[in-house]
Amino acid sequence: MKKDKLKDDAETWEILMLQYSSALKEMNTKLEILNDGFIHMHHYNPIEHIKSRLKTPESIVKKLRKGGHEATVENMSEYVNDIAGVRIICSFTSDIPVLAEMIASQSDIEVISVKDYFKKPKKNGYKSYHMIVSIPVFLSDRQMRTKVEIQIRTIAMDFWASLEHKIYYKFEGSAPTHIYEELKECAQMVSELDERMLSLNNTIKDIVKNSE
Ligand code: GTP
Ligand code: MG
Repeated sequence: MKKDKLKDDAETWEILMLQYSSALKEMNTKLEILNDGFIHMHHYNPIEHIKSRLKTPESIVKKLRKGGHEATVENMSEYVNDIAGVRIICSFTSDIPVLAEMIASQSDIEVISVKDYFKKPKKNGYKSYHMIVSIPVFLSDRQMRTKVEIQIRTIAMDFWASLEHKIYYKFEGSAPTHIYEELKECAQMVSELDERMLSLNNTIKDIVKNSE
């Protein structure tokens, strides 16, 4: 009896992971199509590159426990929003709202929640635009809406976030104060760089337009 239950659980878990990896594939294709369409219309690619990842079972269980939830398959769909995660890296800050709008307006995508750390950066200096969306996934015998976490940020913001993440893990959240101060300064520099690159790009666009 107990053995059967274990087998059932393993099967449910496998189907769920299949569901999330399918959602990732779907989302990646959606984004590629958006980018290709944009290149065709505007001769410009808003997406520099895309990184996607599936959360490991260990990490899913860790997150559930941290949130005070039992590690069950039901809780995993309910409480872990970032099992399927896609990070979209763009060149300019002006690409962020354009991409967010293009994603949100697709009729099969439902936006569940948004955290706009682009307009309102975190205290540590972190900047990025986050969306939790759901998309329908069709398997051979069932259809399920599946959550995907999308993060949209510029190359410069991504550079900062990778280093901050590394430092956070290295020091387990308690790095020396001067490191946090320096990171904050770097975040300021990232914002300035993003602004200047955008303005430079707009200047170039104007020059090209006027010479046509
Ligand atoms: P978790 O942090 O995943 O538990 O999610 P949350 O519910 O707090 O959502 P939030 O949108 O704030 O963060 C989601 C994800 O964004 C995180 O898992 C990280 O990948 C990224 N993120 C959020 N804050 C930071 C930060 O301060 N630094 C870095 N490097 N990444 C961050
Ligand atoms: Mg996360």
